[in-house]
Amino acid sequence: MDAHDTTPAPPPGCPAHGLSGRVPLYGPEFAADPQAYYAYLRHYGPTAPVELAPGVEATLVTDYAAALQLLQDSGSFRKDARRWRAFNEGKVGPDSPVAPLLAYRPNCMFADGADHLRLRQAVTDSMARVDTRRLSRSTEQISGYLISQFSARGSADLLGDYAKQLPLFVFNELFGCPADIGDRVLFGISGMFDGINADKATEVLFQAVGELVALKRSRPGDDVTSWLMRHEAGLSDEEMVHQLALLLGAGAEPLRNLIGNTLHRLLTHDRYAREGGLIDEALDDTLWENPPMANYAPHYPAADTDLAGQPLQEGELVLVSFAAANTGPALEASRQAGSNRAHLAWSAGPHACPSKEPARHITVTAIENLLNELPDVRLAVPEDSLTWRPGPFNRALATLPATFTPVRPQRHSGPPAAQGPTGPAGPVGGPQAAAPRPGERSGLWSQFLNWLTR
Ligand code: HEM
Repeated sequence: MDAHDTTPAPPPGCPAHGLSGRVPLYGPEFAADPQAYYAYLRHYGPTAPVELAPGVEATLVTDYAAALQLLQDSGSFRKDARRWRAFNEGKVGPDSPVAPLLAYRPNCMFADGADHLRLRQAVTDSMARVDTRRLSRSTEQISGYLISQFSARGSADLLGDYAKQLPLFVFNELFGCPADIGDRVLFGISGMFDGINADKATEVLFQAVGELVALKRSRPGDDVTSWLMRHEAGLSDEEMVHQLALLLGAGAEPLRNLIGNTLHRLLTHDRYAREGGLIDEALDDTLWENPPMANYAPHYPAADTDLAGQPLQEGELVLVSFAAANTGPALEASRQAGSNRAHLAWSAGPHACPSKEPARHITVTAIENLLNELPDVRLAVPEDSLTWRPGPFNRALATLPATFTPVRPQRHSGPPAAQGPTGPAGPVGGPQAAAPRPGERSGLWSQFLNWLTR
């Protein structure tokens, strides 16, 4: 190496100068210390060559200004994954581990222009109708139920027993799922994310969502499914199923990790506890420094072009590192100086997350409730023994073991929500809640409904 070379050394274990010459973002080394990777990637300039899985090449934007330029120029950079050249040429197959998050599906995430506007408007308008008080009440009920399942033990995995489950239960409420359908939605989406029998899980999920759409066509309720269906965009049944599956998919995993990463911060930084819980502040710091969706926003140049001086080819895969952009030196300096430049944890531009308010609200309520019920909750293992799930997209703890003084589970005392948070046709306290069909009481959603009506 030249004595004047200031190139940072590759992070430990990073075969950056291996055969492909690309920096791999999929191994345990990246999961263990992504910031070391981002520091190294920055030496390439605003964009860097990465590998998302063996043989899956991409360009990763690590610089804040370049990221904003890409996210806001929807004419030059498209979302429709049918433009992905490596996929079309068979260099990446549908069985690739990254295909579930990157391959085209007919939903607003993969649409451009007028198609995007139409689908997105239907999604944003329907999510905007979610009433905050109702959302708080159902999140508290679900949180109370999940805590009651482990509170007597004095220990729990706050990821597996709590953060992972809660968003899925909340979605069942928001979408107005009756017992039987809700059980299968939970089974399907969990299986898809855990990669356990993922094909079967996907089939179960789409079948269940299809039945939900059919049910709400005949018996609309006061829920997101019914609002989406009655939206002036006039979504077909197929479009309904794909937008609902997107809401579940785009919502459940990052929401689980936002709860997990914020809890992790609260349990590992004394400052928040000392100053009385400061959940909002811990949440914001998490979004800046440890965003749950670390690298995503797949885009494809519409023609050969350049971004911040770096050439890009038509149809090549370009992603944004929200985590690297947020923590880069330029933004760090303006954050310290109190500038109001926003972090990119929710992305930016026309495809920015349409649900950040409900997502924040669910997260704060879930954490507040947990800390109220288990006030002395603390980490059960040394912080440096915690592991993070490998994968290029999500920043996700594998587990979050905690201990606390055992608490006898509270019998559910409040009335089952009068009409149910999802309205007359919804599950809670509704007819399906009292009498799920025989043989279906063992599902997770049925168990919650039974608990509520006890
Ligand atoms: C209630 C929970 C959530 C729902 C229903 C939801 C839904 C969505 C949807 C439908 C999109 C696609 C928008 C479009 O393409 O026009 C999206 C994008 C996005 N969401 Fe969320 N989301 C949720 C929670 C979160 C959380 C907790 C985070 C992380 C902090 C997050 C980060 C993002 C990002 C970064 C994008 C942009 C993805 C891209 O450009 O490819 N979301 N979300």
